[in-house]
Amino acid sequence: MNKMKLSIVRSGGRLLLVSFLTTLLIRCNSNEEIVQPIEYNHYVHFNDVGLDCTDCHLGVEDKINATIPTIEICSSCHEDMNGESEAEAQVVEAVSNEDEIPWQRIYVLPDHVFFSHRRHVKSGKISCKVCHGEVENLHSPPRKQIVPITMGRCMKCHDNKSISNDCITCHV
Ligand code: HEC
Ligand code: HEC
Ligand code: HEC
Ligand code: HEC
Ligand code: HEC
Repeated sequence: MNKMKLSIVRSGGRLLLVSFLTTLLIRCNSNEEIVQPIEYNHYVHFNDVGLDCTDCHLGVEDKINATIPTIEICSSCHEDMNGESEAEAQVVEAVSNEDEIPWQRIYVLPDHVFFSHRRHVKSGKISCKVCHGEVENLHSPPRKQIVPITMGRCMKCHDNKSISNDCITCHV
């Protein structure tokens, strides 16, 4: 083998190794546990305060993204303390400083996949529970996806409901 060929083989090998490691990294990341900056409590807001999912996740019925609420939404009730928890004190402080709380997303699809909440929640009438589990019973933020998002899960439901499973239905 001449030098030229050998170097191509070598760099090809390196490329493979790099893409293999990148894939591994992405996979590890998606299993990593995420700790949110404040111990938000879904149970209290849904069951005791009586808020609905749509009061905070404003886009969920008519947009692509459900959205995570901004501090403006919290500020309507948290200018002063309602209870005594440390977590609420952090929210009251963020409200008074007009700081956004740096929530991290747990449910995130890769850029090559298209998903719309409106289509599923409004047109498809699928409840949040099917894809996110019983969020209303959570006393602290989920640390990872309760119901993992996988292509297999999307396709299984589409099959059951006779929705297209052509690659271009979901991949852009
Ligand atoms: C008072 C506002 C509020 C209400 C009401 C609310 N949420 Fe949330 N939700 C949040 C906040 C803040 C976060 C980010 C912190 C966390 O994960 O707990 C969040 C996070 C989530 C997430 C995780 C998103 C991600 O990718 O990290 C899901 C799923 C979710 N909410 C679903 C629901 C459902 C279902 C309901 C109704 C049963 C609901 N929420 C009601 C404020 C709210
Ligand atoms: C058919 C499955 C499905 C249903 C039903 C569903 N979601 Fe989601 N949700 C997803 C997927 C998939 C993502 C990730 C989307 C992305 O990355 O583009 C997501 C992301 C989210 C997020 C993260 C923030 C964002 O803007 O994407 C929140 C919050 C959320 N969903 C709340 C809800 C609530 C509340 C309901 C019910 C009213 C609901 N979802 C119903 C599948 C679903
Ligand atoms: C409609 C009013 C209302 C809105 C909007 C609201 N909250 Fe609350 N929240 C309350 C009340 C009332 C309590 C006190 C409940 C108790 O102590 O029994 C509370 C309690 C809390 C607590 C303490 C929970 C615990 O376990 O003791 C946190 C943290 C919190 N809220 C965060 C938020 C955040 C973040 C937002 C914005 C995304 C928000 N809240 C929006 C009414 C609201
Ligand atoms: C529990 C069932 C269910 C799950 C899970 C589900 N879907 Fe769907 N999906 C539906 C239904 C029902 C429709 C048709 C909604 C309507 O009536 O417009 C749909 C429609 C769609 C459409 C529009 C199809 C078209 O022909 O225009 C896309 C894109 C889509 N889904 C992507 C996804 C992706 C990506 C996932 C996984 C992250 C997913 N879906 C998970 C039930 C599901
Ligand atoms: C109903 C929606 C849907 C359809 C239809 C679909 N996919 Fe996917 N696909 C997804 C979602 C969601 C992901 C990201 C989550 C995952 O990797 O499981 C994904 C991920 C992928 C990936 C990346 C996998 C990885 O390991 O990173 C490839 C490659 C792929 N799809 C190919 C295809 C091909 C080829 C088809 C057609 C035969 C197809 N998909 C049809 C939803 C879909």
